[in-house]
Amino acid sequence: MNQKLIDKAIEAKQCAYAPYSAFRVGAALLDDKGDIYTGCNVENASYGATICAERTAAVKAISEGSTSFTAIAIATDAKGYTPPCGICRQFLSEFAADEMDIYLIKGDDNVMITRLKELFPSGFTKEDLI
Ligand code: THU
Repeated sequence: MNQKLIDKAIEAKQCAYAPYSAFRVGAALLDDKGDIYTGCNVENASYGATICAERTAAVKAISEGSTSFTAIAIATDAKGYTPPCGICRQFLSEFAADEMDIYLIKGDDNVMITRLKELFPSGFTKEDLI
């Protein structure tokens, strides 16, 4: 359990730009060097242009040279645990280390831990392009 990662995801939620859904999401991504990158959801008046918190964090990390992730924490204000959407599962699978833990955070201190392989067992990969 990485408490710092959890705290960072909760903190990142504060920056969510969600005027249309009012559903705030914060994410904190841990890379294989131990560095953390955060992100929030960023909505748009053209709804389809919205970017999820998980992909915001991933794109920030990748654009700074970090491309292998070992864990992600996701925080929302929902009553239950919020899992990553399908697009984010596919996106993260491209950059996941052998194992990638997913921390789902409910409120400030309830955490459920799962794995990307469990949520997304047979995604499309670069091997499928051959
Ligand atoms: N959202 C995320 O940021 N991550 C997810 O995995 C699910 C959905 C955002 C997108 C949109 O801004 C809002 O939550 C409602 O769908």
